[in-house]
Amino acid sequence: MPATYVRLGPKGYMVFKSYMKDAANIYNMPLRPTDVFVASYQRSGTTWTQELVWLIVNDLDYEKAAEIPITQRYPFLEGFMFFDEDILQQICEDMTKTDENYDREKFLETTKVMAKPVTPMLAAAPLTTTRFIKTHLPMSLLPPNILDTVKMVYVARDPRDVIVSCYHLARFLKTTNFRGDFKDFWNLFRRDLFSLTPYFEHVKEAWEKRDDPNMLFLFYEDLSKDLPASIRRVADFFGKQLNEEQMNRLCDHLSIENFKNNKSVNFEELRDSGALANGETFIRKGKAGGWRAYFDDEMTQQAERWIEDNLLDTDLRFPHIRH
Ligand code: A3P
Repeated sequence: MPATYVRLGPKGYMVFKSYMKDAANIYNMPLRPTDVFVASYQRSGTTWTQELVWLIVNDLDYEKAAEIPITQRYPFLEGFMFFDEDILQQICEDMTKTDENYDREKFLETTKVMAKPVTPMLAAAPLTTTRFIKTHLPMSLLPPNILDTVKMVYVARDPRDVIVSCYHLARFLKTTNFRGDFKDFWNLFRRDLFSLTPYFEHVKEAWEKRDDPNMLFLFYEDLSKDLPASIRRVADFFGKQLNEEQMNRLCDHLSIENFKNNKSVNFEELRDSGALANGETFIRKGKAGGWRAYFDDEMTQQAERWIEDNLLDTDLRFPHIRH
């Protein structure tokens, strides 16, 4: 990948160099008691959780959810860093040579908007609105004591499924420009060389806050296994109640089949610019345990060891993994 990374903070999180232009504004961002953060390591079920949270807080306003793309309902706090100007120039040149669908003008126009930090826009949001914010930043890069003010829902997922999903994302978004195969990607990820790794530090930082009254910690696998139970937890967290009919409709709305066809959550607004690869979609398989089709025996053993080693100093346990 042609990006320039910086390792940030005591845990050495991998961020794109361009992150530094807004790092301090994010860290010092003024917060409001009405703010709602949905946080995760990327590809852990963030979008699924965002839609669930948004609908619960907005009293199941499906019409508005369909009308306004999720990218607009939730400013993406560090999203700008994925559209680093230096790498975009290089990608433009590469794509001109290799890609027939690519529209340079549209691509640059779209990515220019996405390369803008969202902190100024968040600061300007009227005080009467609830600010919904998406972030893949770990707790230590967010404002200190953030949970004294805002409500946060954090979602975690089996890292092996996260890695497979990140691998597909790296192919889906041409701006990532990843050229290797899955094994290359696995080796990159487990050495903490992918954006916002180290993965386990990320999850552990949020896990430590799981008992804070303003933190709701969810697992993707729990949503997958028993969606109504997770919906109930989210509703309780925001002080809302759902009757049976509302619950059924919400489960149906959030099912992978419906989600895949939901234009409001699929980032397809980027398709015209040629920034998305053919044959890949943002919402993909939506399965727990799909990693088995990607890991050979050697990688499976490496992953078991990797998970075991990283859980030695914590009581974090993934509900579905036998430890
Ligand atoms: P897969 O690539 O394994 O299918 P994020 O939103 O954090 O980027 O996470 C994306 C992952 O969540 C993708 O995983 C995606 O398919 C999955 N996902 C999104 N919506 C889902 C849903 N309604 N049900 C199950 N999985 C879903």
